[in-house]
Amino acid sequence: MGWPYIGETLKLYTENPNSFFSNRQKRYGDIFKTHILGCPCVMISSPEAVRLVLVSRAHLFKPTYPPSKEKMIGPEAIFFHQGAYHSGLKKLVQASFLPSAIRGTVSEIENIVLKLIPTWNNCTICTLQEMKRYAFDVAMISALGDQHDLEMEGIKNLYQCLEKGYNSMPLDLPGTPFRKAMKARKLLNEALRRLIEKRRESGKHGGGLLGVFLGAEDEKHNQLSVAQIADNIIGVIFAAHDTTASVLTWVLKYLHDNVNLLDAVTKEQEEIQRKLFEANRGLTWDDTRRMPLTGRVIQETLRSASILSFTFREAVQDVEFEGYFIPKGWKVLPLFRTIHNNADFFPQPEKFDPSRFEVPPRPNTYMPFGNGVHACPGSELAKLETLILLHHLTTSCRPWKWSTVALKASGYRVFLVNSKSRWQVVGDEDGIQYGPFPVPKRGLPIKVIPRNRNEP
Ligand code: HEM
Repeated sequence: MGWPYIGETLKLYTENPNSFFSNRQKRYGDIFKTHILGCPCVMISSPEAVRLVLVSRAHLFKPTYPPSKEKMIGPEAIFFHQGAYHSGLKKLVQASFLPSAIRGTVSEIENIVLKLIPTWNNCTICTLQEMKRYAFDVAMISALGDQHDLEMEGIKNLYQCLEKGYNSMPLDLPGTPFRKAMKARKLLNEALRRLIEKRRESGKHGGGLLGVFLGAEDEKHNQLSVAQIADNIIGVIFAAHDTTASVLTWVLKYLHDNVNLLDAVTKEQEEIQRKLFEANRGLTWDDTRRMPLTGRVIQETLRSASILSFTFREAVQDVEFEGYFIPKGWKVLPLFRTIHNNADFFPQPEKFDPSRFEVPPRPNTYMPFGNGVHACPGSELAKLETLILLHHLTTSCRPWKWSTVALKASGYRVFLVNSKSRWQVVGDEDGIQYGPFPVPKRGLPIKVIPRNRNEP
């Protein structure tokens, strides 16, 4: 159980998560107890026990978050609830992110990518920051639709203030990031209230999740309160944003490290690009369904990076399972990362090998988007935006092979090149940084340099 009060919190948040979990699993087995963030916890990493907690006896395990996070996102947000309120909301959120609902957004997402990529020319970018810009713009469209209301710019700026304080110490003192974030959160409520009232009065609900919320009111004459809508809009932007940006950063890192794979993905995407040229059109949803290798690269990235190492639940009553006793009030942590790295389910788990997904994984062993009632409703959107970005990156940028050795010697590693520029990963560090999600060190800095005329 570690030290009094702090338990093993420091170790969990500073050690490599792969070794933190696997060391304990080797020593104590698939189910063991510890003490994290001031609470006694049970960590579980057998697919059967995880299924019990998230699916078959999910009613005995409620979601739980630190009170400061709940305050910042908003207490009415979907993540914090169980039962009828949760399932009513979940239907609406799911409806908004089903393939049939997001297939029409492909060209909007494509436009974001086409505006973003050229801004990287001639500079060193932090991949993670750029992926955050991208994922944030997609999240805004998904939450509020693509119509440009005056309020949207304000909402964007306020959300960014809120985000800065999200992972800070929850110290409610003048000048602290937490106090500033809470102030931004209040203003966000006001901005969203104005937007909701404007759309309700005009009868034009607009697109995105907000459109679905307002449309549902008409059908059932059962209005969600402004606070309920606002907390869930902010919650979805929050859930959609850093998660997807971290996965996108890992995809680029893995492709950079596996040149043959990058070649094969590029070939798959060039074939699609050729068809688009012939038909003189942009990408469609159907095109994104014809990218099997790229899809497997994304699946393997989700497994290998496991950016959500675990999730939190709390036992609402004493529970017994296979001889283990979980007392009421204890936290229960399903360890997705440990299951994704178990050699019984994923042979040679340390190897980045998308071909393992040519056959479907064993049930309940692959859960990058969770499982059960709280499973992620945004999984298709996250995959779609990754496919669209990879299409444009690989077709406008080709692997650059010559003089790799010289570049390595100069401290750069070759990444990708297009007709106008070449990309290099700056530095040669293979480390991982944590907070909130694990990402390549320094967010994977990449230098984009114009090509010299004499280069091939
Ligand atoms: C690759 C990116 C993403 C990953 C890895 C991811 C992962 C997850 C996981 C593991 C959960 C379950 C948490 C739990 O059981 O406690 C979850 C829940 C959720 N995700 Fe995602 N997510 C991603 C992107 C998105 C996107 C794009 C959206 C936007 C719609 C989204 C919206 C949500 C929501 C609203 C929930 C809460 C669902 C509920 O409580 O019923 N996520 N996500």
